[in-house]
Amino acid sequence: MKSNPKKFAFIAGDGIGVDVTIEALKVLRAVAEVEGLEIEVKEFDYGAERYLKTGEALPPGSYDHFKTYDAIYMGAFGDPRVPDMAHAREILLGTRFELDQYINFRPVRCFSDNLCPLKNWTANDIDFVVFRENTEGLYVGVGGIFKKGTPDEIAIQEQINTRKGVERIIRAAFEFAKSRGRSSVTMADKSNALRFGHDLWLRTFAEVAAEYPEIENNHMYIDAMAMALIRDPSAFEVIVTCNLFGDIITDLGAQLQGGMGMAGSGNINPEGTSMFEPVHGSAPDIVGQDVANPFAAILTVAMMLEHCGETAAADRIEQAVRDCLAAKESTVEVGGSLGTKATGDAVARRVRKGE
Ligand code: NAD
Ligand code: IPM
Ligand code: MN
Repeated sequence: MKSNPKKFAFIAGDGIGVDVTIEALKVLRAVAEVEGLEIEVKEFDYGAERYLKTGEALPPGSYDHFKTYDAIYMGAFGDPRVPDMAHAREILLGTRFELDQYINFRPVRCFSDNLCPLKNWTANDIDFVVFRENTEGLYVGVGGIFKKGTPDEIAIQEQINTRKGVERIIRAAFEFAKSRGRSSVTMADKSNALRFGHDLWLRTFAEVAAEYPEIENNHMYIDAMAMALIRDPSAFEVIVTCNLFGDIITDLGAQLQGGMGMAGSGNINPEGTSMFEPVHGSAPDIVGQDVANPFAAILTVAMMLEHCGETAAADRIEQAVRDCLAAKESTVEVGGSLGTKATGDAVARRVRKGE
């Protein structure tokens, strides 16, 4: 990719974001050592603490600065002292938007039958990828509040769907299916109720799908998809959907993988700088207890390395996580008895030894 050494920006964020990012970095350094990979890591303290202290979420010029890295890594954001998430909108959503990371790539893979939460299904039945549109929809922040705090208050939150934005995420889903030998793409919308925005999704999906006759295309309403994902997860290979629906079904997807601590994700700009983060949040309910599962954060490092062309390093990390799971060297949530730190140590050890 762009540089050697590979340059990574790391922003741990808030809550368990800090704990799991420490473990992710530990594993990144271990794999770099064993694979002879030259890396340069720059850590930033952006998060609620800094925001509360300085009133600034990101220094001016940060988005342009982020573009100088091979990839960006973020832990998680969210702090009870910043209830409106102002800092996270700027750091997390701001980066997705300003760096035009229009593909939120969220694989849903279950690594072991023990983690499969569904009766009559096994780990092998759960293997799909969600392509979540990442720069439009209800997340654009267009709208406003009128007569706030009065009985006549009006709140408007606009949803933006552009032909360009909808087309490029649908095309990315089909291109992925084509290049990875996946045989179907399923698009989820709510075009029965949202007759403007999601009619655009429906028409665009039909048009793009026609360019890929070798790939089966399916359409579902999002409510039916939520049901179908639980009834028969094996029916899905590639899912493409809008920003909000993708957010919701990837938490469902995380649970199909064994919990929030198992799900990694990439915010991809195929022509620019991408950002990688676990799907989970800052989990204030378990912060400071050394119980957060770091696998999602560690697997996110593997995704980042794969994106940078370092496939051997990525595979080594994934194998180490699979081996740790099998040996029950993991946190309680996924069947082990270790804390966050000891789990990170176990993965780093297996990465080094290749065992
Ligand atoms: P959450 O993902 O933080 O937690 C949901 C549940 O999953 C909690 O019970 C938590 O304990 C558990 N969980 C999450 N990660 C885990 C892990 N690694 N290991 C074990 N258990 C884990 O979602 P939430 O509670 O709705 O949100 C908490 C805060 O995080 C909020 O401020 C929210 O806005 C924010 N958030 C941020 C991101 C992000 O930064 N990408 C994502 C989601 C939520
Ligand atoms: C996610 C999170 C974010 C989102 C929040 C923190 C704004 O839930 O990455 O899934 O909704 O995209
Ligand atoms: Mn989410």
